[in-house]
Amino acid sequence: MIIIGNIKMNKTNTQVKDYIMKLLPRYEQGKHETILCLPYTSLTTAKFLLEGSGIMLGAQNLCDEEAGKNTGEISGEMLHDCGAGYVIVGHSERRAKYKENAKSINKKIKIALKNRLKVVFCVGESLAEKNLLKTFETLKTQIEDGLKGLYENELENIIIAYEPVWAIGSGKTPLSKEIEASIKAIRKVIANDFSDKAAQKIEILYGGSVDNKNCSSIAKIKEVNGLLIGGACLDAINFSQLIKDVKA
Ligand code: 13P
Repeated sequence: MIIIGNIKMNKTNTQVKDYIMKLLPRYEQGKHETILCLPYTSLTTAKFLLEGSGIMLGAQNLCDEEAGKNTGEISGEMLHDCGAGYVIVGHSERRAKYKENAKSINKKIKIALKNRLKVVFCVGESLAEKNLLKTFETLKTQIEDGLKGLYENELENIIIAYEPVWAIGSGKTPLSKEIEASIKAIRKVIANDFSDKAAQKIEILYGGSVDNKNCSSIAKIKEVNGLLIGGACLDAINFSQLIKDVKA
């Protein structure tokens, strides 16, 4: 199982230090592939603290241009240099609040890969799309736009996170069979656009209101290769317990 904690815009550098110091003694190495996606300001600190722990480091976004005149932005090269091995791209909060469009997401994915960052590529339908029975259509468009122009071998460095927008931070989750069906739909798109082999190999996570109570049952759903966690990773003790509770 891959378990990713997305800290979002929470925790200062000092708070991250404290968080990691609480997490490490409780973390069972080797059970899961665990990745912590932190704010930019704590990446360098975390890189040193996490060394040898088995927990990998990720960022939450990157610029859609490689370098230069982009005041306030962070490049893929900078993230890699700070020790990040992963980066989240296309999170629904960025799509909605920061108006990230398909073209920009596609550019970000390519730049991340070029800079040796594995991509956690987020897709998911809004409540309106779900109600209009447009979930699969939305997923297809998001996947095809995001992965446009990639070679099949590059998918090895992509993890897809299925996060229904309406499930994020709402305490609501889809039914198990809905999660299974959506992930199957995603694999079908990958099979059509790349190959059956690629579709079977690509790791697909579920995210959206995963907590200590529902983590085990969601992780057991066929097709789910891991979890992307927001709120429930903010407390180190809580998060370490969640990691323990999910069966390998
Ligand atoms: P919650 O777990 O708080 O719903 O957030 C999910 C998420 O957005 C992770 O990227």
